Amino acid sequence: MRAPMTPTIRLAIARSPHELATLAADAVVEALPGDRAPVLGVATGSSPSGVYVELARRQAAGEIDLRDASAFALDEYVGLPDGDPHSYRTVVREQVIEPLGLDPARVHVPDGTAADLAAECASYEQRITAAGGVDVQILGLGRNGHIAFNEPGSALDSRTREAELAPETIADNARFFDSPDQVPRRCVTQGVGTILDARRIVLVAQGEAKADALAHALEDAVSPAWPATALQQHADVIVIVDEAAASRLSPALRESARR
Ligand code: GLP
Repeated sequence: MRAPMTPTIRLAIARSPHELATLAADAVVEALPGDRAPVLGVATGSSPSGVYVELARRQAAGEIDLRDASAFALDEYVGLPDGDPHSYRTVVREQVIEPLGLDPARVHVPDGTAADLAAECASYEQRITAAGGVDVQILGLGRNGHIAFNEPGSALDSRTREAELAPETIADNARFFDSPDQVPRRCVTQGVGTILDARRIVLVAQGEAKADALAHALEDAVSPAWPATALQQHADVIVIVDEAAASRLSPALRESARR
């Protein structure tokens, strides 16, 4: 059943990866507070990587200065040691900390090697709160509708916790590993409720493989079956996608999109 999209989600369909990164960076920059150091929410995955490149370009050009920003990653695999090239800690260092010149002490990634993962999750929530909350969350979308590692069935008010990866996610993320059996089965992820606490959310999705998930996310009734539908409940979401990802949206929604 199709439910009308809430007017709080704004959709843009980009004509190129460059335009997608530009629009997403615009949406991030617009949400930066003018009077204090920003708190960024950073996603890993291939979709957001161009956004970090564009933010770094703007910083190098003197248009923005994010060097005093704090950042919180969405998720991490359980059990990958510090320095493992597949860990999201490594990805965040290479794609966010180094290009943007952030202070590593202010960039947080859940510790998937913590002996007490429940305590690590509670501490992660406390660190986000202590930082004043996330100003702008950059978010990707899983083929099965996951956000961060909140797989189908995740409670829409869930908080940071240990969770299990869905089979589709293991298959999708195997491209980053030598084989599917090397993909960790468990993760630590911000909850759907944690993500919804960000003041602005910028969702980026590219490619035909995301078309179904995007249509469900934006046009289905809100349900744990498609965790990204929870974004419809947020007051300030900007969705920036390419033509392929937008290909299964209803004509009415495609019409409403900014191009
Ligand atoms: C991973 C991450 C998600 C990300 C998703 C999509 O599973 N945990 O946060 O949104 O993949 O990634 P990509 O943008 O590479 O398709």
